[in-house]
This record gives sequence, C-alpha cells and structure tokens, in this order.
Amino acid sequence: MPALSSRVNIIKASPIRRIAALLDEARRKEDIISFGGGAPSLPPPQEVLDYMCYLLMEKPRMAVGYTGTRGIPELRELIAEDLKKYWGVDYDPQSEIMITTGGTEGIYATLAATLDEGDEVIILDPTYLGYSEAIKLVGGRVKKVPISVETAYQPDLEEVKKVVTPKTTAFILLSPDNPTGRVVTEEFVKGLVDLAVDHDFWIIFDAAYKHITFGERKQPWPDSYPGARERTITINTFSKEASIPGLRLGYLTGPPEALEAIEKVKQYLTLAPDSLGQFAMVKFYQDGIKDRYLKEVVIPTYKRRRDLMYELIRKELPEAKTALPEGAFYFFVNIEYYLEAMNRNDEEFANRLLYRKGVVVIPGSHFGDMGRGHIRMTFVSEPEERIREGMRRIGAFVFSYL
Ligand SMILES: Cc1ncc(COP(=O)(O)O)c(C=O)c1O
Repeated sequence: MPALSSRVNIIKASPIRRIAALLDEARRKEDIISFGGGAPSLPPPQEVLDYMCYLLMEKPRMAVGYTGTRGIPELRELIAEDLKKYWGVDYDPQSEIMITTGGTEGIYATLAATLDEGDEVIILDPTYLGYSEAIKLVGGRVKKVPISVETAYQPDLEEVKKVVTPKTTAFILLSPDNPTGRVVTEEFVKGLVDLAVDHDFWIIFDAAYKHITFGERKQPWPDSYPGARERTITINTFSKEASIPGLRLGYLTGPPEALEAIEKVKQYLTLAPDSLGQFAMVKFYQDGIKDRYLKEVVIPTYKRRRDLMYELIRKELPEAKTALPEGAFYFFVNIEYYLEAMNRNDEEFANRLLYRKGVVVIPGSHFGDMGRGHIRMTFVSEPEERIREGMRRIGAFVFSYL
C-alpha cells in the first residue's frame, strides 16, 4: 500500500466515536444502559417529520436536490429572526449567516479559514474533543487553560491572559459546555471580548447547546458586547435543539469577510448542506413549533432527568464531586476518591463498569489532562427509570471495591 499522509499521524481518532461503535456492537447482545454519547433521545417535532415525508413524496426533486453553498435563503432569514428574538442581535441573512453540515463542519471550516501554520488557539481543559485535532489538522497549535470542579468549571480570565501570545489567533468558547454543563458568566464573556480586542484574536463561539439551559441562567451571547461583532464566529447546530443529529445540519454567523473565506473552504468540503434537512428546519421555525418543542418537551424532559441524576449521584457516589449543569446534556463527575480506593484510572473504571455492569460512561481523560479522575455521564439518552437503574448499577459496582 502506498504511504498515508503525515497529517493523519499527528491526530488521534475520536475516542467517543470508538465508544459509539463499541456500543452499537454491545447493544445487540445485552441490556446496556448508556450514559455515554451526546445524542438526544427525543424524536424531533412530529410536524417536522410529517413535513419531511410530504416533501419526499410530493416534491422529491426539491427535497433531495443541491442548494447553494450558503444554504437556502428562507432558512437563513428565519435564523436571523430567531437570533434577534432570543439574543437581540441583528444578523444579515445574506452576508452574515451560512448553513453548514452540522457544527462539525462549521468548526473545521472556520479553523481552516482563520489559522495559518503555527498559529495558536486557546481552548479550555477539559473541553469537547472536536477541537484539538481539527486545530492540528489545519496546522495550528493548541494552548490549554485548566478549569476544575472547585470553581464549578468556570474559566478564569487571568489564566487565559497567561497563555495569550503574539501567535494567539483564536479562543474557542463553548457554553453551555460539553463535558461540564457549565454556562459561562457575563463578566467572563465581557472580559474575553476586551482581551480579544486588545490582542486582535478571533472568538470562535460554539453555541451547540445554546437553547439547552435549565432556567438558572441564560447563555450570554458574545456578539452583544461592544467590539465582538467583527471578531466572533458563532457555530450552531440543529443536532441538539431540534434533535436531528443524523441530518447533519447547523449554521454559522460571523463578519461577511470571514464568511466569504469560510464559504471557499466549504465549497471543497461538502459543496452544499443537506437539502431535506434545510427544508425541515424551515418548518421547525414556523407556526411556533420550535418554541413549543423546546419549552414543552425538550427542556422539561431533560431538566427532570438532570435533577434525578444529580440526586442519584449524591446518593450512590457520595464522595464524588460535581457541579449541577446549568445547560447542555452532561454531568462531569470527579471520582478520584473512588479511583484511589479501587486503584484504577478513569479509563479502567469505564471499561470495567461496561464489562461488569453494562453501563456506559465516558472517561474524563478523553476531554483533556484536567479530566483525569473524572467520568462524563449524559442524562439525556435514557428515560428516568433507566437512569435509576444505571445509577444503582454504578453504586453497586463502586461499593464492591470499597
Ligand atoms: C460542543 C459540541 N460542538 C459541536 C458538536 C458537533 O455537533 P454536530 O456536528 O452534530 O452539529 C458537538 C456534538 O456533540 C458538541 O458537543
């Protein structure tokens, strides 16, 4: 076989994708409870599904045809209205909004369009594992700022300042956060914007979970602070808020020149976003479907599951440390006390738990060095009775070692 590129040697395969594949395999055999992946377990709104069926039957050419690289204008207009309604910021649908093939394409195309070889990108540690390898793939270098449970996973601006250099090209802000569920404070966002202005770097704001908050606090929107607009690119996805991860649809907002550059990259990545998904999302925004779905179905369901899992973590793992997630889908739990007693690391813990009790959790070390000694557990992928059963199994597993 001829040689493969050196580029693929500098990145590691996504451990979560590997776990997803293992899980698919394991599910066929036995009763596995998954607190692993980050996919919503709720179906999308029925009206959206019905509309997709209608389009496929009645307007097949439109439903599965190519669209423009930036996506269909109706959807971009509806997104602009929606962002105005929720965050009070005006975006021009023609020049400041672009539909993407999920947030994943948004992240990659943004990095490819903003980084030169050797440019530095600051990320938090732990963080979503879709960033570091994408940064390396486009020739960038990763700088990390630690966060911990002691401060409820809130980043400290002073720590960010310590890693800013003349090579700093971007800071990736993810909030509500994966893996910790933390929502950043207004003060942090304001301070970050000031820092970005002073040092002339981009803020890449991953707003994947922007609508998934549980009432404690709303997600602050960087573009509403002075100086942010010309240096912020916001990555959005419909995977979480519309529960359509398989349709691979998201969108970006950013300054027109940045979107032109990103569009060029996108032309050679995916050419155009999925058409059926785009029409489905037009329906999502119409007739109050989105607002009702989030308010009456998604948030109450996930909040009940979150509160239940919080209570059960405290009951079954009383020595663990965690912070109540204000948003997103996850608990990030420091289980160092138990790991010491068991003489295991987080990866061994997760493997044994799956093997012995059929419960999937993600080792915290997959999210960065600061994630060692933690596990990430999602509360959205199982209904309440299965959350109870899974937490009972985890309690019994740990107790057997103490
Ligand atoms: C923080 C974050 N960003 C981006 C993504 C990618 O989402 P998608 O490509 O499905 O839009 C995910 C998926 O889990 C995520 O958690």
